[in-house]
Amino acid sequence: MTPSAQRPETAAPASPRDVGDAIVSTYLDAQVVLRPGVAEVMPDDRLPVNYSFMTGILVRVDGKDHQERRRVLGAALGRQATERFDRTVRDRLTRSLRQAAADANGDTARADLVQVLRHALIAASAVTMGLDGLDDPANIPTALGIADRFSAGIRGSRHPRSTRPEELAQIVADAAAAQEQLDTMYLTPAWEKRQALVDVLDSGPADKTALPPDLLTQLVRNAHLYSDRGRDVLVREILSLFAGMAFDVIPSILFALDALLDHSDLLKAETDPALLRAIAFESLRLRTNGVVHRRLRSDVELPSGLSLRAGDHVALDVDGINRDPHVYGSDARQVRAGRRLPPGVQPFGFTFSGGEHTCLGRGLVTGSAGAGGHAERPGLLMDVLHTLMDHGVQRDPAHAPTNRQRLTSSVPGSEVAESVEDYVSYPVSFATQRGLTPNGH
Ligand code: HEM
Repeated sequence: MTPSAQRPETAAPASPRDVGDAIVSTYLDAQVVLRPGVAEVMPDDRLPVNYSFMTGILVRVDGKDHQERRRVLGAALGRQATERFDRTVRDRLTRSLRQAAADANGDTARADLVQVLRHALIAASAVTMGLDGLDDPANIPTALGIADRFSAGIRGSRHPRSTRPEELAQIVADAAAAQEQLDTMYLTPAWEKRQALVDVLDSGPADKTALPPDLLTQLVRNAHLYSDRGRDVLVREILSLFAGMAFDVIPSILFALDALLDHSDLLKAETDPALLRAIAFESLRLRTNGVVHRRLRSDVELPSGLSLRAGDHVALDVDGINRDPHVYGSDARQVRAGRRLPPGVQPFGFTFSGGEHTCLGRGLVTGSAGAGGHAERPGLLMDVLHTLMDHGVQRDPAHAPTNRQRLTSSVPGSEVAESVEDYVSYPVSFATQRGLTPNGH
């Protein structure tokens, strides 16, 4: 047993229900636990959280149901969708930065990058999902309101010990209201429109390309996958994808920008895609979503020597795993481009989890290597960093970024997990003469 893979019996006052029967913080142990077939998601009633409004969505189910839905959603988030997503983000981002430049009227332009990114990403998410109208600039505040309330519900219920019970009840009620609003105002009309198009296609020889290339259309075509689960699950699936696609990557973008702005080779990174990618991946490794919970399907012996039993609840401390010095070196806590990794080790660690539930947005964020005759795709993170550098974006010297203290980690004693903070505002400035090329490239 190592100090980073331990049974927390002695870690009072936390109970096993809070922290899991074991905490895994080493890369090699995580590789075993997240290997396909070794573990499954924790049942709702054994989690230290209230997941009532996440019950039944992809990340909370296993088995055939999960496989089939994952295949459909994965195909819907394929190359065409991710390229469309990237394009929309780039266009909206460039538009906002240009607007800020125009508003500056020849002076240094200023913007809050958190707001600019939220607007660009929620629009791209609405387009990719097929939530008609929610990408309209006039409807962006509504879109953000819906996604924010749902995300707050997820965050609050993941970290119940950081929130007072009455506050948590309010947060969960707000998330349910957001779900209702999305359904009545946007989802139902968009769904009915696509259903009508699919019906026409199914009733005779019609042009398949007449179907909108969005996720909702794919869900309409595969609605049977949700029929046993009820509409609530379908709506939550759509809402969690809508919010996740828009918000999950923002902290990584800001973390990577920080790393770039602090990097002595910034100018080199602007013109060296390999260096930029290395810094982006290091940032993904160091800024994670925290803890992943699993229940073991069978007894397992971990490389650290820890023996676990079938049914054990394992809490994977992804922050610790991704900073494992045995894999990433003694300076694992720092951003260092050009880190040499042992074979089979992912540069971004287990930030996107692993095994059956590996994040479906990973390719969208990290890009792809250009297999099967397709050109290499830089991915959303690289694309956004490029656009920001093309505009010469710098931290605004007159206004410091503000952080929100990250909510208490559900792995007590993991000082790393608790020390990470997300920005709620990131003021930037840039010279107005830069960034006048189409698309910011
Ligand atoms: C840097 C940004 C992101 C991070 C750090 C991240 C992280 C994660 C993690 C850790 C999981 C697995 C949780 C578990 O194993 O229990 C996950 C699952 C998932 N993510 Fe992401 N994610 C990101 C972006 C996205 C985006 C942009 C999308 C949408 C396109 C997305 C869609 C999903 C979906 C659908 C799942 C569930 C997969 C399944 O259960 O089969 N994620 N993500």
